[in-house]
Amino acid sequence: MFADSPLEQLGDSLGFADVSTGTVALVTTTLLLSAALAYRKLTEPKVQGITPPFIPSTIPFLGQAVSFGSSPIEFLLAAYEKYGPVFSFTMVGKTFTYLVGSESSALMFNSKNENLNAEDVYSRLVTPVFGKGVAYDVPNSIFMEQKKMFKTGLNIVRFREHVHIIEEETKDYFKRWGASGQNDLFQALSELIILTASHCLHGREIRTRLDEHVAQLYADLDGGFTHLAWLLPGWLPFPSFRKRDRAQREMKKIFHEVISKRRADPNPDDDMLQTLIDSKYKTGRPLTDDEISGMLIGLLLAGQHTSSTTSSWLGFFLAKDKELQDRVYEEQKQVCGEGFAPLDYDQLKEMSLLDRCLKETLRLRPPIMTMMRMCRTSQNVLGYTIPPGHQVCVSPTTNHRLPDTWKDFDKFIPDRFIDPEVANSEKFAYIPFGAGRHRCIGESFAYVQIKTIFSILIRKYELDLVDGYFPEVNVSTMIHTPTNPVIKYRLRHPDIKI
Ligand code: HEM
Repeated sequence: MFADSPLEQLGDSLGFADVSTGTVALVTTTLLLSAALAYRKLTEPKVQGITPPFIPSTIPFLGQAVSFGSSPIEFLLAAYEKYGPVFSFTMVGKTFTYLVGSESSALMFNSKNENLNAEDVYSRLVTPVFGKGVAYDVPNSIFMEQKKMFKTGLNIVRFREHVHIIEEETKDYFKRWGASGQNDLFQALSELIILTASHCLHGREIRTRLDEHVAQLYADLDGGFTHLAWLLPGWLPFPSFRKRDRAQREMKKIFHEVISKRRADPNPDDDMLQTLIDSKYKTGRPLTDDEISGMLIGLLLAGQHTSSTTSSWLGFFLAKDKELQDRVYEEQKQVCGEGFAPLDYDQLKEMSLLDRCLKETLRLRPPIMTMMRMCRTSQNVLGYTIPPGHQVCVSPTTNHRLPDTWKDFDKFIPDRFIDPEVANSEKFAYIPFGAGRHRCIGESFAYVQIKTIFSILIRKYELDLVDGYFPEVNVSTMIHTPTNPVIKYRLRHPDIKI
């Protein structure tokens, strides 16, 4: 009924799987929220100071949702050109204020959580997936303690072990690709990232239980990360919400069984699960089984889309530039020797070209396109006052493309990072892992994981685009994945076994 209409496009960008459910939900939500918005406008307090420039819209309630939803980065870069580093606009009844560029972004990264708050914007999406008692369901000071426990578990001794685990998993996984062909790279890397992350971050016991049923549970949990779940209350009877809740209960049951066996084990493995079992809050209280389960789910899912999307884009950038791909292969031989003995962590560190390729992929395709906080108290930035109730946003993708900061900003040039000053010239010019109190704790693990996978992949196969097609960015999902991500491959040396 609404084929190709803005409403349908919005439905797609909100992640509605079926148009009729989406349409009914959208129309109902639109009416209800329009009324609520009109009431709020009448009652909201006046702010002192100059509010940021506002991008007007003639579409009531939806505001800029369609323009933003169809090409968010172009929208933000054009707004930056026209309005400068701080501007506001409305979408679906909410007001968003973007801070573009290093100077204005500092407001978000230096702020206190009680002023620019993460739970207010992320909890509805994340808590039904991770469960109660962890991450955005607890006061930020508790989450900070939980993040510290993660950091203790993600150490170099463990990374050394992880390299071997990931190498073996990768070799095993790519046996199914055969000598040559075409395959969905994003799907393959998503599967491989789950296998390797589960093995390294959850431990051997949980990895051995990762069969098709558990993979489906992860998929259902992951299906909870949609625009729909972000906008609407979790108790609504959408099929994806129900599947997500059922999957969460089942996953936790599996974790509880593994944790109680592990607690009883006199010779436990030395891994992240053990770190969490041994951890205590400042009060001296250890984590409950439920908290450990939620933290393990969170750890896996926080790295799942981010790392699989990043590594897929890396594959396509290398497939597009065959000369660069050859240089990456030469680096493998130079660092590890022609025989390709088992990889180790120190060699991974020496692969500086592969490192720069990953870094540049994260510049042009950072998986988290926008970080968001709820403005709880008036905030001053560059002469403007942001009122409470605005959702304050910083977009790594936009900061990474500002022509005044990045030379040839839209070109994939890994060697730009040979000069370390390039990424550090302005504090928040390069922020794929965020900054400040909410900064990512998974950066080093992600580098170990992706560099190990690509070492094996590039040694084994030569990658090519299919008929020269470089994937478009799919902006309808929360993380910007490659569209139709099929890649062509053939063995580099049919006689060498990798
Ligand atoms: C290429 C891979 C990854 C990228 C680009 C990435 C990016 C990010 C970003 C941008 C944030 C900040 C979010 C915000 O400020 O709102 C973040 C936070 C976080 N990430 Fe990652 N991440 C990656 C992988 C991982 C992995 C592998 C893990 C776990 C092992 C992980 C765990 C976390 C956690 C726990 C937070 C903290 C959230 C908070 O304090 O609010 N990430 N990540």
